[in-house]
Amino acid sequence: MADIKARIIGTGSYLPERILTNFDLEQMVDTNNEWISARTGINERHIAADSEQTSDLAVNAARKAMDMAGVVPEEIDMVVLATITGDFPWPSTACLVQDKIGATNASAWDVSAACSGFVYALASAAKFIETGTCKRALVIGAEVLSRIIDWEDRNTCILFGDGAGAVVLEGQEGENGVLSTHLHADGSQWELLYQPGFGSRYPASVSGIEERLPFLKMAGNEVFKMAVRSMYDVAQETLKFNNLDVTQIAKLFPHQANRRILDGVSKRLKLSEGQMYVNVDRCGNTSGASIPLALDEANHKGLLNPGDLILLDAFGGGFTWGAALLRW
Ligand code: ACO
Repeated sequence: MADIKARIIGTGSYLPERILTNFDLEQMVDTNNEWISARTGINERHIAADSEQTSDLAVNAARKAMDMAGVVPEEIDMVVLATITGDFPWPSTACLVQDKIGATNASAWDVSAACSGFVYALASAAKFIETGTCKRALVIGAEVLSRIIDWEDRNTCILFGDGAGAVVLEGQEGENGVLSTHLHADGSQWELLYQPGFGSRYPASVSGIEERLPFLKMAGNEVFKMAVRSMYDVAQETLKFNNLDVTQIAKLFPHQANRRILDGVSKRLKLSEGQMYVNVDRCGNTSGASIPLALDEANHKGLLNPGDLILLDAFGGGFTWGAALLRW
């Protein structure tokens, strides 16, 4: 059988219209622009309109990716959507997207790996394509984190934003496409970053709402250290697996957690100026959406050239982390 690679043939993204600046946050919690900017590098983030759900953001990004790829929804065999803020606990948001775009021939499922979700989703879809099980996959990262943020908690509410990014993957013979994927998890650390309610552990209750269980909880310092170490380790693992030196990577797309995490990874990897793509200043942390959003931005800016080696590098709740190496 010919060597088939999963190649990205289209990218798309969507950011809600409303922008929430650090100055807006000053009016909501006890914080200030200088603190947020210095500690996180975030200046503003986008917030979904009340009428917008995660599936709507995903559909907007997916349609743009399909337009760029020149494929119609019926040609998509699989919709894989990374999210921790689906429209409902179930059915999957991927099913809602499959219906909304009319991808009537596609299977559909969500991937739950928090901020590593897109890399996990891409790795899964690529395997289906490489084995010939499917020809074209729509891989999406979409989040409306603003609905699970505790807007009274200044430790967390300053960090996150809403958005979506999508890619169309197609099986092609040749050298271009996903070259390798590397996924990891350490479930023993789940309590450092999670959403307590409402699932089977803490079922829906009035007291649970009073205890703010439906909102994201995070131990910021511990997450910070683990994120830098894990994103560095998995990037090194990927380079070693492919016999590459970091200087051969044209662009590294990290999960856009916050500027200090990205600077830490960049410094340890000894990246050169501009080698890492960063948009966290404008988008905040959009969890599973952050890598495809950044990828689409860079693609539209003409920063990605055929043959370029692209490294995707993520870390998130679970803990989960992973990387994917692509030849563009
Ligand atoms: N505004 C002003 N002061 C604040 C704010 C705020 N928004 N938030 C916390 N502070 C205060 C704290 O209360 C504390 O005050 P104290 O010394 O009087 O107790 C002080 O600032 C320092 O707090 P720290 O938590 O030690 O601040 P730190 O420098 O660690 O920065 C931060 C906090 C930005 C959350 C950092 O830990 C971090 O970046 N963590 C990673 C978290 C992250 O990015 N998570 C995203 C999800 S995971 C992922 O995507 C990989």
